Amino acid sequence: MDYKTVKGDSSWFTQDRFGMFIHWGLYSQGARHEWLMHNEKISVAEYERKYFKRFDPDLYDPEQWASAAAAAGMKYFVVTTKHHEGFCLWDSQLTDYKAPNTAAGRDLLRPMVDAFRGHGLRTGLYHSLIDWHHPDFVLDPHIGPYREHADRLKLNEGRNQQRYADYLHGQVRELLTQFGKIDVMWFDFSYPKPDGSGKCQLDWRSDELLKMIRELQPQVLLDDRLDLPYGWDIKTPEQLQPRAWFTHEGQRVVWEACQTFSGAWGYHRDEASWRDTDELIRTLIDCVSKGGNLLLNVGPTGRGEFDARALSRLKGIGDWMRRHSRAIYGCTQAPDAFKKPENALLTYHPEKKRLYVHLLAWPYKQFFLDGKAYQERVEYAQLLNDASEVGMNKYEAWQEVWQQDTANALCLNLPQTKPDVAVPVIELFLKD
Ligand code: GLC
Repeated sequence: MDYKTVKGDSSWFTQDRFGMFIHWGLYSQGARHEWLMHNEKISVAEYERKYFKRFDPDLYDPEQWASAAAAAGMKYFVVTTKHHEGFCLWDSQLTDYKAPNTAAGRDLLRPMVDAFRGHGLRTGLYHSLIDWHHPDFVLDPHIGPYREHADRLKLNEGRNQQRYADYLHGQVRELLTQFGKIDVMWFDFSYPKPDGSGKCQLDWRSDELLKMIRELQPQVLLDDRLDLPYGWDIKTPEQLQPRAWFTHEGQRVVWEACQTFSGAWGYHRDEASWRDTDELIRTLIDCVSKGGNLLLNVGPTGRGEFDARALSRLKGIGDWMRRHSRAIYGCTQAPDAFKKPENALLTYHPEKKRLYVHLLAWPYKQFFLDGKAYQERVEYAQLLNDASEVGMNKYEAWQEVWQQDTANALCLNLPQTKPDVAVPVIELFLKD
């Protein structure tokens, strides 16, 4: 087996399309961004003193998390086993900086994995390459709690990045041997700088890590943040929507956008810039319409709950998904012959040969799809929310005069009133 060319199994991933990201750690208590240690230059000792001993998620019920994710239509989840702060959710044998040593008193990862699997979701593990807590992690000039610190060089004395890499490899081995089949391994992140500073694949010994990963779980889907030109399976744009299907060296690749509700990944009490449910639904559709996935993030509170803002959005997405998931699961970008209409997004199910028109604005009764492909291949149309027939090409001569250019278009005759759903979808059945 050449570990460099082995590919993870993406067959389920490109069917399932929708997952939940979970960022949960000590920063949930700071409740003002998971990077607060860096943002506010909080020393390791102070951070530990404030948050480690007080971490007490007494309301943590992974069953509830999993059922909220499943009800939203999510099919997999990716959780931070450790974020940049260095705190570990599982009972790692390689550190004391872990959930069992807090007031939680137990491994918090295992029951989560069990609960999500119990609800039929696949398991992904996010693992931070960066570790601001580990005594061997070499401090960077511009990143981390000691950035711009006058004594940074002194603070770096005795640190040994390769020993840190041993620790990293050891923890990844634990994660890939103690939690059953892992579907996604999501490392974060490398930041090589042209002047040689920062962290690159040599700092993690990424090649060796990849070899171990492919030996332990060859099928696992690997993200693209190990700073290796090979070995990765998915591209992971974050906090933006790609304009088109993501390509690498001219080829379309498997990709997944990861997005937040409001900006921060960890629980942020005061952030007011929350996206509304309809926008989040449109984001999911947008991903699938470009052949990608959406990994939507929840930052649970320090007490171990999803807050009301997150729950109401998940519920709203679930309401839409209950009737419209057919236009998401197993779907992808429509063939080029079907031109994207204005104010709409297209998704396409290649096996069922159905095309879905997601209407971003409700049209004035007639909706035109331009091009011969529509005219020649659509044999039946219905609204997806209630399977009610949508008439095709029904108009009278006088209307044609006003509409003009109808010869090369398929006309859908929609009801005057917009169905009461976040994004109405028309399901088009295509001829073979
Ligand atoms: C970034 C951030 C981080 C977040 C991640 C998710 O790289 O460092 O806080 O976990 O993106 O994609």
